Amino acid sequence: AATTEYQAESATLSQANVATNHTGYTGSGFVDYVNTAGGYIQWTVTASAAGSATITFRYANGTTANRPMNVAVNGTVVSSGKAFNPTTNWDTWTTTSVTANLNAGSNTIRATATGSEGGPNVDKIDVVTGGGGGTVTADQLL
Ligand code: GCU
Repeated sequence: AATTEYQAESATLSQANVATNHTGYTGSGFVDYVNTAGGYIQWTVTASAAGSATITFRYANGTTANRPMNVAVNGTVVSSGKAFNPTTNWDTWTTTSVTANLNAGSNTIRATATGSEGGPNVDKIDVVTGGGGGTVTADQLL
């Protein structure tokens, strides 16, 4: 399997802004959704072959309420109202994952806030493709 990191601050944003006003993010910042439904982050993700992938969101939610989002791959919702539950404060980051099929080549992954408070703060996604764990055995090299 191969893991690729895609920063939120490098993605396409709608009703969401790059921010740096909390600690613990990776890359050069994170994305803060506007406090309204409908904002999104959209990443373009490349897979070397078609197949199942694990998409892991790193986020913070410093409130006491879930900030649900729809996760869509290539325009199809693969996780509706996915929970992004509280993380104690805005400097505390955690991860949550979805599994979805990717096409060979370019894919879009969009996370759209569905609640009136908008989404959580999102640092990045890690996309694992290729299945089969991380080790290439000697047999596979023959
Ligand atoms: C606070 C916090 C932001 C967060 C926002 C929100 O303003 O500093 O980082 O995005 O709350 O409620 O979404």
